[in-house]
Amino acid sequence: MLDIVRTVATLRDQVDEWRRAGQRIALVPTMGALHAGHLSLVHQGRETCDRVVATIFVNPAQFGPSEDFATYPRGEADDVTKLEAAGVDLLFAPDVGEMYPENFATNVTVSGITDCLCGLSRPGFFDGVATVVSKLLLQALPDVAVFGDKDYQQLLVIRRVVRDLNIPVDIIGAPTVREQDGLALSSRNAYLGTAERQQAAALFRSLGTAAENIETGRGEPEAETAAALQRLTESGFTKIDYFELRDAETLAPAVNLQRPSRLFAAAWLGATRLIDNVSVAARAIPN
Ligand code: PAF
Repeated sequence: MLDIVRTVATLRDQVDEWRRAGQRIALVPTMGALHAGHLSLVHQGRETCDRVVATIFVNPAQFGPSEDFATYPRGEADDVTKLEAAGVDLLFAPDVGEMYPENFATNVTVSGITDCLCGLSRPGFFDGVATVVSKLLLQALPDVAVFGDKDYQQLLVIRRVVRDLNIPVDIIGAPTVREQDGLALSSRNAYLGTAERQQAAALFRSLGTAAENIETGRGEPEAETAAALQRLTESGFTKIDYFELRDAETLAPAVNLQRPSRLFAAAWLGATRLIDNVSVAARAIPN
């Protein structure tokens, strides 16, 4: 049976009790509107831990003034049914006042790896994420916390926060879950109209084609990126924030193709912004 708690104090009481019983705890932070991608994070947590705590908090601090905070899909009852079926033990669903009490004045900022990609197209986003995730980790003090590769830059930011601030938790990255046509699962896919939903698959297709051509040496990053931008525009994408090859660890522009890299894309279909990324294996060092 899934218990729901709304305060940090009750969350801590429950986690403390499990810890005293020698149990390992996984945390799965979410903003709700749950889909199979989120549930795969729960399964990952379950693999190494006795208890899984999920959180649902639509974090105002990570939305820009013209972004979709007000319209972000919310439906706690449906989410609770899904979490229960997935075997989650506890849901922490605080309100804004519990997370950001009056006179809240502390922010966590990660520099360097946030100076590109979503850090440029969504100013303030990673400060909001780093701050709320730091809080959730310190509130629950889990053994592991699970985040999706779909938000790969976010995953790197969280790993850096945990390392730099010595937060005692293992961060696990979980593979992106996709629809049959390759579209990465995302709560924002719900915004897509029928035609847009069909066009959306071009994002993953373009990433996959470019990644394969770069990996095999059939194409070079610049030409592959240009071709992908053209394909996305032809497929109906109305604006492309970025389509870039970057080092998988540092997010610096990928110049050395003998290191693992990653192709990242963010693009708009009408009012909906979609992001995705794929790995690009290091090219073999020539003899
Ligand atoms: O990926 C998300 O859903 C959010 O950015 C997170 C990690 C739950 C922080 O609000």
